[in-house]
Amino acid sequence: MDRFRHHRDRLWCEEVPLDVLARRVGTPAYVYSAGTIRDHVRRLRAAFADLDPLVCYAVKANGNLAVLRVLLEEGCGLDIVSGGELARARRLGAPGARIVFSGVGKTRAEMEAGLAAGVRLFNVESEPELDLLEQVATARGQVAPVGIRLNPDVDPRTHRHITTGRRENKFGVDLAAGERLARRAARSPALRLQALQCHIGSQVTSVEPYAEALGRVAALAARLRPEAPDLEWLDMGGGFGVWYRDQAAPGFEAYAAAVRPIVKASGLRLLMEPGRVLVGNAGVLLARVLYEKRGGGKRFVIVDAGMNDLLRPSLYDAYHRVWPATGPPPPPLGEEGAGERADVVGPVCESGDFLARDRALPPVAPGAVLAVFGVGAYGFAMASTYNDRPRPCEVLVDGARYAVVRERETHADLMRLERPDAPFQAVEDRADPEGVA
Ligand code: LLP
Repeated sequence: MDRFRHHRDRLWCEEVPLDVLARRVGTPAYVYSAGTIRDHVRRLRAAFADLDPLVCYAVKANGNLAVLRVLLEEGCGLDIVSGGELARARRLGAPGARIVFSGVGKTRAEMEAGLAAGVRLFNVESEPELDLLEQVATARGQVAPVGIRLNPDVDPRTHRHITTGRRENKFGVDLAAGERLARRAARSPALRLQALQCHIGSQVTSVEPYAEALGRVAALAARLRPEAPDLEWLDMGGGFGVWYRDQAAPGFEAYAAAVRPIVKASGLRLLMEPGRVLVGNAGVLLARVLYEKRGGGKRFVIVDAGMNDLLRPSLYDAYHRVWPATGPPPPPLGEEGAGERADVVGPVCESGDFLARDRALPPVAPGAVLAVFGVGAYGFAMASTYNDRPRPCEVLVDGARYAVVRERETHADLMRLERPDAPFQAVEDRADPEGVA
């Protein structure tokens, strides 16, 4: 469900026509619907209402400050994975009590910043990480709140690149090691064991893997409880799926029903870290058609957005709906539209540079605007400047109004940190290990 509609021969984001917006702000442009984001948070909360979860939005999905502000105003907390994401949270004044610090490779500096910000939880993923957190907390005279990220070895049946809860993935620790780490954290005066966490993957479109994983985590929590009086949270991670090609992802109610009995029986509170499901369907990428050409029996529509702007199709073979911003209505989700098949490709010098392949698409003239759907999550967030292409602007629509919430990068921005005339410096002591690191 989202607030993108076809109406009077045009696509609209809320009450703003996308072709007009493209003319105003230029292309390529990411456009987000504030109303859709709010709807998603409210529907998630309603489905889980009786469990009163702490919903920490996964900033990595879309860290734009204006988007984060909408989520914070809806009462969400934030799930962060870097000092950079912490800086964003701080910039908006997000309270530490609503921040969860995740990530498999936190540095000492990131731990220090997290402790200084008073984050609610560090989700720890290995024994050496727990050692370092203990050291850093001791040095600061603080007690670090700890969650242990468990790898429950459950198959979430999603794309192999975004599966995280299998034994062979780099994330978390297995249940036996997790139990050991948890007991250690519970005993340490510098650590407070507050949570057990798992995150099984992303774009998970069945609910059973959640029940299976959380069941294993809850069983461990029950064993630990006598020694861990501060254990308060079951953190189920994120990963809820959205509708890309069809309506394959279940609704919030189905996810809630799957974990409800487990959470209730555990006596713990539920924490979750959804990213994609809150913002994924709240964004489109607008691109303009540059040329159309035919070759090898194929129709290519060449547009001004490429894999550097939207990486998911090239990286994961991800499917995003593409449709012209003016003209006939798009086909219903899951159905094929009318028109000759085409590959929609970008200007980047890679044959892997495409936004969509083999799609029925109505005729489009040069200058026509295409909307690429479902890119509110992991769209701009994964954009790069490859081929020296400035990253697109980001626009937030709210009702009948819009704001450019991140300006389009300029060529000067791309070169801003380069110092072609930087003086060469001698290295004093080549054996100095600090210098090498
Ligand atoms: N919590 C943890 C610990 C995570 O690693 C992630 C995502 C989330 C929460 C949020 O997951 P979500 O609800 O958004 O599925 N770039 C990929 C997705 C990578 C997800 C990484 N971890 C893509 O474009 O599909």
